[in-house]
This record gives sequence, structure tokens and C-alpha cells, in this order.
Amino acid sequence: MKKIIVAIDGYSSCGKSTIAKALARHAGYTYVDTGAMYRAIGLYTLRHNLTAEAAIIAALPDIQVGFVQVDGAQHVTLNGEDIESQIRTLEVGNCASRISQIKEVRAFLVAQQQKMGDDKGIVMDGRDIGTVVFPKAELKLFLTAAPEVRAQRRFDELVEKGEKPDYDAVLADVNDRDYRDTHRAESPLRQAEDAIVVDNSHMTREEQMEVIYKLFDKAVNS
Ligand code: DC
Repeated sequence: MKKIIVAIDGYSSCGKSTIAKALARHAGYTYVDTGAMYRAIGLYTLRHNLTAEAAIIAALPDIQVGFVQVDGAQHVTLNGEDIESQIRTLEVGNCASRISQIKEVRAFLVAQQQKMGDDKGIVMDGRDIGTVVFPKAELKLFLTAAPEVRAQRRFDELVEKGEKPDYDAVLADVNDRDYRDTHRAESPLRQAEDAIVVDNSHMTREEQMEVIYKLFDKAVNS
């Protein structure tokens, strides 16, 4: 059967990675979480106290981002160290959002991401996958959900982790991140013209996957 590239873009906290992972499993494809790659560079800059853009750009040759499989799950590595458990914080997320605005950082990671697609059979999620990384991807999905719905999901996740979040602060963070992701000069988040929009505000995970598996089967067989 022909192998394709699936590009999944969308706002933060709309379930991109859960959907991308499920689709990759369904298809027997490799899943690549590009947000984790930006988070890895964010963590590096936090650890080395790099704030100036020039210093971050100068450090890029010293940064190696990779992936390893741990118990069937994909973990991101920074210079060989498994950093998966350290990158899912608000602090690293905000730092990733800032460094992702630097043109050289994007070029550095986009080149690696494009290489990962050489043999197709890949599901990649991020913000610029259908527009910049793989503009010729056979299937492009653009996921979205209302900010209040995404804030509630993030709020529930934090409560589950034992934290005591403030809903209004979580919603403000979702809105700030959306603004930065869609207004940056370099590769802002936008929907590719040929992307299929999936608004999952009022869909269950099962309803969503049913729609997405159908779109995938159609793309593979076309
Ligand atoms: O999807 P995420 O929350 O893990 O992404 C972290 C940040 O990285 C997000 O604010 C935007 C940035 N990002 C990006 O600019 N381009 C991508 N392809 C993926 C993520």
C-alpha cells in the first residue's frame, strides 16, 4: 500500500498529539511531535540562561535533538539525554513559544523534520507542518477547538496532576499562546489552503478518530 505523509497542525491544547499518535498507530507510521523539538531547545536555553537571540543562534551547533522509544512511547532527547519528563511544563512551553519565533531556530529544526519524511509513512504534528515542512503532504489536517474548551481540558489535566490551577489564568495562557503562535513573523500558525479543518469542540475522541481514519483511508487510496 502506498505510504503518505500526514501533516497535523493546530492550536495548543486541542489534542493534536493524542490524535496524531492514534493515527500513527492505526497506520503503522512513525509519529513525530515537533512541539517537543522546540521544547527541547527551550529547555537548553533555560538551562544555559540564554536569552539573547544571537546567543541562542550561536548555540544551535551544540544542540542535538532526537527521539528514543521507551516502553512503546516516544521520548525526546537533548544531546542524548531523555528529557521527556522535563519539557511538559508551562515554563518550558512558554520558552519554546518564544524561541520558535527565531528564524534560524526554525530553519534548524525544519531541515531535520523534512529529513524524517524522506521515506514517508510519517504523521507529524506542529504549527507549520502543512504550510512549511511538508507543503506537499498527501493529507493535511488543521485541528481546532474553542479557547474555552481547550482551557477547560488543560485545567482538568493540571487538576489530575494534583495542581490547583486558576481557570482564568489557564484561559489567559491559552489566548496568549494562540496570539503568539498566529502573529509571529516567522511561519505563523495558519491553515494550509488544502488542509481539512476538524473542530473538535463538541466531538468525543471516538467521533474524531472515526472522521480522521476515514480521511486517512481516502488519502491512501486516492
Ligand atoms: O505543541 P507544543 O505546545 O508542544 O509546542 C510548543 C511551542 O513550540 C508552541 O508554542 C509553538 C512552537 N511550535 C512551533 O512553533 N512549530 C511547531 N511545528 C511546533 C511547535
